[in-house]
Amino acid sequence: MARIRLKILVTVTMVNIFIFILISRNSGQDKNGHKIRMPSKPFWTKLSPKPAYWNRQQQILDFYNNPILLVNVTDAGLPTWLNESSLTSDPCQPNFSVTTQVKDYNSLPNRFKDFLVYMRCRSYPVMLDQPEICKDPPFLLLAVKSLVPHFDRRQAIRQSWGRAGVIANQTVVTVFLLGNTTAGDHHPDLSSMLQYESARHKDILQWDFRDSFFNLTVKEVLFLHWIQTRCSGAQFIFKGDDDVFVNTHRILDFLRNLSESKGKDLFVGDVITNAGPHRDKKVKYFIPESLYVGTYPPYAGGGGYLYSRDIAARLYNKSQHVVLYPIDDVYTGMCLQKLGLSPEKHKGFRTFNIEEKYRSNPCAYKSLMLVHPRTPQEMIQIWAWLQNPNLSCQ
Ligand SMILES: *[C@@H]1O[C@H](CO)[C@@H](O)[C@H](O)[C@H]1NC(C)=O
Ligand SMILES: *[C@@H]1O[C@H](CO)[C@@H](O)[C@H](O)[C@H]1NC(C)=O
Ligand SMILES: *[C@@H]1O[C@H](CO)[C@@H](O)[C@H](O)[C@H]1NC(C)=O
Ligand SMILES: *[C@@H]1O[C@H](CO)[C@@H](O)[C@H](O)[C@H]1NC(C)=O
Ligand SMILES: *[C@@H]1O[C@H](CO)[C@@H](O)[C@H](O)[C@H]1NC(C)=O
Ligand SMILES: *[C@@H]1O[C@H](CO)[C@@H](O)[C@H](O)[C@H]1NC(C)=O
Ligand SMILES: *[C@@H]1O[C@H](CO)[C@@H](O)[C@H](O)[C@H]1NC(C)=O
Ligand SMILES: *[C@@H]1O[C@H](CO)[C@@H](O)[C@H](O)[C@H]1NC(C)=O
Ligand SMILES: *[C@@H]1O[C@H](CO)[C@@H](O)[C@H](O)[C@H]1NC(C)=O
Repeated sequence: MARIRLKILVTVTMVNIFIFILISRNSGQDKNGHKIRMPSKPFWTKLSPKPAYWNRQQQILDFYNNPILLVNVTDAGLPTWLNESSLTSDPCQPNFSVTTQVKDYNSLPNRFKDFLVYMRCRSYPVMLDQPEICKDPPFLLLAVKSLVPHFDRRQAIRQSWGRAGVIANQTVVTVFLLGNTTAGDHHPDLSSMLQYESARHKDILQWDFRDSFFNLTVKEVLFLHWIQTRCSGAQFIFKGDDDVFVNTHRILDFLRNLSESKGKDLFVGDVITNAGPHRDKKVKYFIPESLYVGTYPPYAGGGGYLYSRDIAARLYNKSQHVVLYPIDDVYTGMCLQKLGLSPEKHKGFRTFNIEEKYRSNPCAYKSLMLVHPRTPQEMIQIWAWLQNPNLSCQ
């Protein structure tokens, strides 16, 4: 009896030791063999305000858009920095409290001061609209960021890659996106010429905000809204600058080739990854540490990118939950990131130009979708090359 008991005891002990070894071998690893790191402290951090202004404003917006955090919140229970009276006040009134909230406000270049004071405003009056332009929803909407005085660029685009109508059996509509060039910035008054242009070509959209580099994000959100109200039927949207050449035929070919699922989630361009704010004051893209800290999400260079109707709608919704950032293409990248999407790089988008030795070779443009920069004359020349039926390339 005792021997049997001993045998059972030994067996059970052995099994236990075996299990113990198995567990301890596996405890540090998941099933793929990766080490599991145990957090040494709670992984949720107490919500405390970020020192950089943009990041802090985004924290506040995130807080108010998070239904889980908001449950059972009362004003009295909130730390002061989260207690936003601004959510109910007029966002388009200049907010001078930023002058004390951004620690080096007074030493920042003027464009930052202008940006910060109007940072919450996203709606400006429409000056010129084309409400009927998408009555027959186009396959492709070409939207070109332009400035009032750039008459020649717009005309070159109309005569070349932005020629609206039916191209290769697909309908294309072109619009130009403008703000206002104001007397305050010593701009000549070109409004009557613009009126004429708009009546003649019926492709100008203009809003009454100061058309500056840092207000391009305003242009972006106004355009996203415009798509939803005036052109939500467009299947694809190209948005770009007025100093690029676009090979519209190539883009149409590319779009026609897409599978249905690819076509739904499309966002392609010249994607920049692992970038962050420039800290050198002399660079156009300089951003001070008091405004933004962190890296940039992947984003498509603003020279031109292409996206689907579905993404346009989702971007519009999401943009309302992302604080305006002074660089428009980075801002769009931030909105995509919040959607859990990432723009796709396509080597046909050359926002940093092509090698000099190929620039006057017609065949170099045949398989590209976009090249930056090009003058109005070059746009017309390249378009003529591509239209020539005699052009034969390998
Ligand atoms: C919110 O507060 C109410 C009343 O104090 C309580 O009944 C409810 O369970 C709370 N809800 C959550 C999600 O904590
Ligand atoms: C938050 O703001 C409201 C309204 O302005 C005020 O009544 C309340 O006392 C504030 N709460 C805190 C914690 O400051
Ligand atoms: C102005 O900005 C501050 C943050 O700098 C914010 O707390 C305040 O609510 C804003 N006021 C308005 C009217 O937007
Ligand atoms: C355009 O459509 C017509 C008729 O549907 C077809 O014959 C022609 O091949 C199409 N052209 C192109 C470029 O797709
Ligand atoms: C916009 O432009 C028009 C025409 O040039 C001008 O009358 C108007 O004052 C401008 N708006 C602003 C806000 O400067
Ligand atoms: C953006 O436009 C608004 C409205 O015209 C203007 O008040 C503001 O100064 C502009 N911001 C920049 C950075 O130019
Ligand atoms: C479209 O697909 C065809 C056939 O698969 C291919 O030959 C062509 O290069 C593709 N065009 C583009 C722009 O991707
Ligand atoms: C955008 O938001 C509106 C209103 O909340 C909603 O009806 C619509 O389905 C949303 N669209 C997308 C594409 O998320
Ligand atoms: C194409 O080539 C033919 C024969 O060489 C020539 O007659 C014609 O003018 C050329 N067309 C263009 C647009 O260059």
